[in-house]
Amino acid sequence: MIIKENIMKKTSSHRLATRLLHDHIERSFFSETCEALFLTSGFIYKNAQQAERTFKKEEDHYQYSRVNNPTITNLENRLIHLEEAECCIATSTGMSAIFTALFAGLKQGDRIVASKAIFGSTYWFIDYFLPKIGIEAVFIEGTDIQEWKKALSKPTTTVIIESPSNPMLDILDIKQIANLTHQAGGKLIIDNVFATPLYQKPLKFGADIVVYSCTKHMDGQGRILAGAILGKKELLETDIIPFVHNAGLTISAFDAWILLKSLETFPLRMEKMTKNAQICAEFLEKSDLINLIRYPGLCSHPHYELAQKQMDAPSTMIAFEVKGGKEGAFNFMNALNLILICNNLGDSRSIVTHPATTTHLKVNPEDRLKLGITDGTIRFSVGLEDSQDLIEDLQKGLDALKITKKYKNK
Ligand SMILES: Cc1ncc(COP(=O)(O)O)c(C=O)c1O
Repeated sequence: MIIKENIMKKTSSHRLATRLLHDHIERSFFSETCEALFLTSGFIYKNAQQAERTFKKEEDHYQYSRVNNPTITNLENRLIHLEEAECCIATSTGMSAIFTALFAGLKQGDRIVASKAIFGSTYWFIDYFLPKIGIEAVFIEGTDIQEWKKALSKPTTTVIIESPSNPMLDILDIKQIANLTHQAGGKLIIDNVFATPLYQKPLKFGADIVVYSCTKHMDGQGRILAGAILGKKELLETDIIPFVHNAGLTISAFDAWILLKSLETFPLRMEKMTKNAQICAEFLEKSDLINLIRYPGLCSHPHYELAQKQMDAPSTMIAFEVKGGKEGAFNFMNALNLILICNNLGDSRSIVTHPATTTHLKVNPEDRLKLGITDGTIRFSVGLEDSQDLIEDLQKGLDALKITKKYKNK
């Protein structure tokens, strides 16, 4: 492409944190240090012949920013490195990535199997929308391999899972599920948001497509919405990339540029946030005001061994249930001074969310309970603050629980 001429560095043998700063920078003719931001809708052709050659794909020339843009190309190359994937398409949001990955290759009569513990909008799309257009949708308990064997004994087009899942941090066996999916003739999509590409590489375990909300840890500073789809070139080029381009689900060049900057500090942020998460999880686990805690870095996690096998680190998300149900959870959250109440996650600022009344409000209470989400459940996205300040804030939450009348009975 046009921008890559002088000082372009391709892949190097350096380690990931270094590569995220130096590799695959496509510099313009001005040799800028920081990747340039190309805020342009269109690109000019020297003559009508060049425009024709570009559209016929006979010449490598940028065409229109819904289809390609140098800043977006830079981002996609960076994400390919990060995931160790063959191909990537960046999208406007995490949901546009998930929607495309699920929908682009489907046709009437196809069958999709999903684990129940899946993000609310993804659940809605599979449960409500796909059956309306003649696609069979089956939900199963994702941690039960017998259920997978049964569900995938029939030909299946697509399987989608989240591991760790939102919000209860279930760990699913990616390798086994990928094998069963392939035996059923399907492809496995995994939403890898909680683990991030730094701490889990699903393609290595046999997944076919990995999707991200880059809104979360990758930007990690609460500024933009973005998504990405990664996998084999052939798989993405057939339906997925044309779908994004033609449906207009493309990321904006500005958001791509912000993400390029975020990725420079991504490993550093994740390391500190994960350390903080381990400290906070160990602190909360000791309290007798907590009924249950789920963190993949605690040996008490029911899928701890699988997490050790699949993940390189337990990442930044914790789920715990306080005593006193909804009143307890609200008292806990309202007593916090530092940790924010918000339904985003993966931010540099620590965040608590009450899933039953926000992110999972629309899931009927019976199904919510089956997912392990009770009225006392709190999702905790641990940030970059000093860990001692976080502990002191959590202590304020625990102190508030002591005044919750109901907790004694729960
Ligand atoms: C696991 C998971 N997947 C996908 C999404 C959707 O991402 P976005 O909000 O960027 O569309 C979210 C958002 O919270 C999420 O938590």
